[in-house]
Order: sequence, then structure tokens, then C-alpha cells
Amino acid sequence: MTIVAVWCRHKDDNIIGIGPHIPWRVSSDFKRFRRLTEGQNLIAGEKTYESFPNRTLPNRKIYVLSFNPKYEVSDPENHFVVTDINEFSGFEGVLYLAGGASIYKTFMTDCEGFLPDIVVDSVYQGELNPELKGNHVDITPCVEAMYEKYRKISKDYEEDNVITSVWLKKGDFIDQSVIRHILNAIENKGENNATVS
Ligand SMILES: NC(=O)c1ccc[n+]([C@@H]2O[C@H](COP(=O)([O-])OP(=O)(O)OC[C@H]3O[C@@H](n4cnc5c(N)ncnc54)[C@H](OP(=O)(O)O)[C@@H]3O)[C@@H](O)[C@H]2O)c1
Repeated sequence: MTIVAVWCRHKDDNIIGIGPHIPWRVSSDFKRFRRLTEGQNLIAGEKTYESFPNRTLPNRKIYVLSFNPKYEVSDPENHFVVTDINEFSGFEGVLYLAGGASIYKTFMTDCEGFLPDIVVDSVYQGELNPELKGNHVDITPCVEAMYEKYRKISKDYEEDNVITSVWLKKGDFIDQSVIRHILNAIENKGENNATVS
């Protein structure tokens, strides 16, 4: 099992959401997320899942973390409710963590055995949408864990005020094809044109 955390946070304060919303609109960031995760297995918290348009993301298997075993997903063939992260033990393949904050925190700070192997760290440099009301949701403990336990293995990629870099858990050896897929998705290249350094 390889676990990849993917987030976009606001510079300095690490905010990823206000209420249920992502407080910026950068279409290239959504496109990068789609390239990273299309055809892949995703883990999303119930609130983040509820925020997906029509509660789905096409061409992805979604594991919805919810404490409610009776939670009804929109597409039972492709979406699955998981009430305990230990259900991922023994999972074969790559799992992409799509948030929200409680899910990043569970994996990055609470459950050592599920610490992601890779973090795709995108940092939005602009201003937060001032019209949004609600709780400011931040992932500061996850960012601190990233700085402490991971090393940066890519350059900074800048696009539309978002700087993205890739971090690998210290001491981890990762299937190069996963890294190649991630770098290709960030660089927007086909699968055979990686620039792994
Ligand atoms: N910028 C980004 O990259 C990004 C990405 C994703 C989300 N977001 C933002 O993040 C915010 C949502 O984050 P959030 O923390 O409020 O919600 P969330 O993580 O999406 O979902 C929280 C829910 O997940 C369930 N859950 C959490 N941990 C669990 C566990 N260990 N086992 C089983 N179920 C578990 C709980 O469901 P119950 O209700 O059953 O208790 C909880 O209410 C929104 O603002 C969203 O826009 C930002």
C-alpha cells in the first residue's frame, strides 16, 4: 500500500477551507488534482465527499470515511463507506488522501501505521475569498509533521499563484512509477515523459 496525501493550503496560516468551501478558485489547481487522481483510489472525509459536485468525482473509486455505517453514498458501485481506518490495512495499491482536515490529521498525526508515504504540498499564495463565512479550517499540525518527517524530492512548480512540491517520508523507498505518475500529473505530461531526478 502506498498512501499519498494531496492538499492545497493557504500560505502562512495553512487554511484549507472556510465552512464547507475551499476559499479560492484556481482552475489549474482543480485540474492538477484531477490529473493526479483520475483512475485512482481516493479517501475523503464525509464532509469533503458531500462537497463534491453531485457527491461524486468521475472515474475514481472513493472510500468515504464516516462514523455512520448507514451513510448512503451516491454511487454504491464505486463509493464505499469506511468507518474505521484499520479497514485499509492490507490494501494493495495506491490510496490518495483528498481531505478534509480531519482526514489529513488522522493519517498525518494520529495513526503512525498510516502515515502517508508521499505528500503533494500545494500552497496558494493569494488572498482568501473575503465573502465566505464559517469556520476557518487549517492543517497546521499536518504541515509541521511534513517538515519534521519528510524530505522534499522535487523542485517548486509554480502555476497561477500556487506553488506545488512533492515530499517523501524519510527512510521510505517508493515505487518509482508512483512518483513518475505524480510528477507527470504536476507537469501535465503524458505518463511516458517523466523527469524524475
Ligand atoms: N484545500 C484542500 O486541499 C481541501 C481538500 C479537501 C477538503 N478541504 C476543506 O476541508 C474542509 C472539510 O474538512 P473537515 O475536517 O471539516 O471534514 P472532513 O475531514 O471532510 O470530514 C469530516 C467527517 O469525516 C468523518 N471522519 C473523520 N475522521 C474519521 C475516522 N477516523 N473514521 C471515520 N470517519 C471519520 C466524520 O464523519 P461523522 O460525521 O460520521 O462523524 C467527520 O464528521 C472543508 O472546508 C473543505 O472545503 C480542503
